[in-house]
Amino acid sequence: MSFKIMLLPGDGIGPDIVSSAVKVMKLVAGKMSIPLEFSEGLMGGCSYEKYGTPLSEGVLAECKASDAVLLGAVGGPKWESLPHNLKPEAALLRIRKELGLFANIRPAKVYDSLVESSSLKAEVVKGTDFIVVRELTGGIYFGQPRGFNETRGWNTMEYSRPEVERIARIAFEMARSRNKKVTSVDKANVLEVSQLWRTVVHEIHKDYQDVALSDLYVDNAAMQIVKNPKQFDVIVTGNLFGDILSDISGMITGSLGMLPSASMGTRYALYEPIHGSAPDIAGQNKANPLATIASGAMLFAHSLKNAKASAVINEAIEEVLSEGFRTADIFSEGSKLLSTTEMTEAVLEKTEKILSQKESVL
Ligand code: IPM
Ligand code: MG
Repeated sequence: MSFKIMLLPGDGIGPDIVSSAVKVMKLVAGKMSIPLEFSEGLMGGCSYEKYGTPLSEGVLAECKASDAVLLGAVGGPKWESLPHNLKPEAALLRIRKELGLFANIRPAKVYDSLVESSSLKAEVVKGTDFIVVRELTGGIYFGQPRGFNETRGWNTMEYSRPEVERIARIAFEMARSRNKKVTSVDKANVLEVSQLWRTVVHEIHKDYQDVALSDLYVDNAAMQIVKNPKQFDVIVTGNLFGDILSDISGMITGSLGMLPSASMGTRYALYEPIHGSAPDIAGQNKANPLATIASGAMLFAHSLKNAKASAVINEAIEEVLSEGFRTADIFSEGSKLLSTTEMTEAVLEKTEKILSQKESVL
C-alpha cells in the first residue's frame, strides 16, 4: 500500500519550492523503494480566487483521505484586507484544527556553514540545535469566549488537562531521542492557565525520569534564547508563547529560509517551511527551496518512520551548503549564487551521490 501525500503549494513562492521538494522526495522514494502517491490542491489566496474560500471542503476532504500534507506557504498583500475568516491564515488555523494537528515541531538548528549569517555572534550560536514543541490547537488561539465590539476586545487562554498531557508526552518522547532535556515555558507567576500547565507537565514527567525537566517564564525564555541558545534541547509551550518563541528561535539561526516544521496529531501530519510566501520574489526562480526540502526529510522521519531516507536528504542539504552553493536569501561574498531550480538540481545530484555510496557499502 502506498503512502498518500497531499500537496498544498499555496501562494507566492509556494509552488516553486513544493515542486523542488517533491523532486527530491521522489528520487529518494524511488531509490529506496518507498511507495509514495501524490495529489495536489489549492489552499490560501489561490483557493479564495477560485472557490471564494481559502480552504474548500473538497480540499479538506482530500487532506483527510491522505496520510500527510506538504504545504508551501499561504498569503500575500492581495488578500490582507479580506475579512478574518476569508484570509489565507484562517485556512491554516482551520486545517490544523480539522486534522487535529496539536503538536507543532520547529527545529532551531544552526548550519555550521551559515553561522556568519546569524544576527548574533558566531560563538553564541554555533552548535545551536534545539526544537520548539508548540501546542497548536488550543490556548488563546481557539479559546471561548472571544470577540470585540466598539469598546472591548477579548480572548480566552484556556487549557484542559488532556491537552497539556498529550503535548507534554510528545516533548518528553522527542527529548528521549535527543539530549534528554525539556524546558517547559509558561507564565505561571501571573496566569492560572499556566499553573495548570506546569502542574500537568510535572505529573507527566514522572513517566520520563530519564529526561531532565526545568521551567522558565516566557519572558525569561525569550531572553535566554537570545543570550545562550545552546542551553536548550526541547522547549515545550502553549500556542501563543510558541508562536513567538519559534520566530525568535528561527531567526537567531540566521537560516530562516532553511528551517522546516512539522505539525502532528494522532492520525495526520502536515509539513511546511517556517518562512512565508515571499510574494515579492514569486515566480522569479529565486526562492530558497531548502526549508521545504528539509520538510520533506521530516516527513520521511516522522510519518514514514524512515530515519535513513531523512538523513540522506539532510546530508545532501549540508553538503550543498558546505560547497558554497547559496540562493539569494543566504548569499554572501565568495559563495555561488543559484536559482531555485539550480539549487534543486544541486540537492538532487548530492542525494543521488549519497544514495549510490550507501548502496555500494551495503
Ligand atoms: C505560524 C503563523 C500562524 C500562527 C499565523 C499565520 C496564523 O504565524 O504558523 O507561526 O500564528 O500560528
Ligand atoms: Mg508565527
